[in-house]
Amino acid sequence: HKKVAILISGGGSNMVSLAKSMVGDHPGRPCLVLSNLPTAGGLQKAADMGIPTAVVDHRSFKGDREVFEEELISVIDAYAPDAIALAGFMRILTPKFITHYAGRMLNIHPSLLPKYKGLHTHQRAIEAGDAEGGCSVHEVTAELDDGPILGQARVPILPGDTPDDLAARVLVQEHRLYPAVLRRFLEGETEPLIL
Ligand code: GAR
Repeated sequence: HKKVAILISGGGSNMVSLAKSMVGDHPGRPCLVLSNLPTAGGLQKAADMGIPTAVVDHRSFKGDREVFEEELISVIDAYAPDAIALAGFMRILTPKFITHYAGRMLNIHPSLLPKYKGLHTHQRAIEAGDAEGGCSVHEVTAELDDGPILGQARVPILPGDTPDDLAARVLVQEHRLYPAVLRRFLEGETEPLIL
């Protein structure tokens, strides 16, 4: 099987959907769940699924991004992953880190890229009066929330939606999209998947 390391910062619901999908004839298996925050709720969920976990707390590197990333790389590479899935990992990564995992790293972003890179995607989509929101899985390249789009799923934006309403509607689709895209990626399929 191909080994997949999953990087999280929070509740890890996307991590759970990815990990649960990697069973049976799936080409991948989770080898590591790593968080930059010791309080991330996803760590316990990963441990409960029997997946090795690790914490590299960025705060203990006192702003030295380079040393933080060197530690990340050394922890991740001990598991020799074939692919890295960013799943709500909320640290910006430098080109050096990204280059190290070139062609092996995916991210899920809660907007219909190229719209709304960065933060507060749902609020920005609502304020712009968009009729649709959604999520994108893309290969990670040096530019933030850029790189070839591997899949997208769309949802309607309804009158009166709050950012939380829209986030919840999009998250349901994230949990469908990311496992499907990861599977295709591990099988070498790069045509975008549109759900
Ligand atoms: C997800 O909605 C993901 O798309 C988003 O964070 C959430 C993580 O939830 N990612 C980003 O905003 C990346 N900049 P989860 O921890 O339950 O998977």
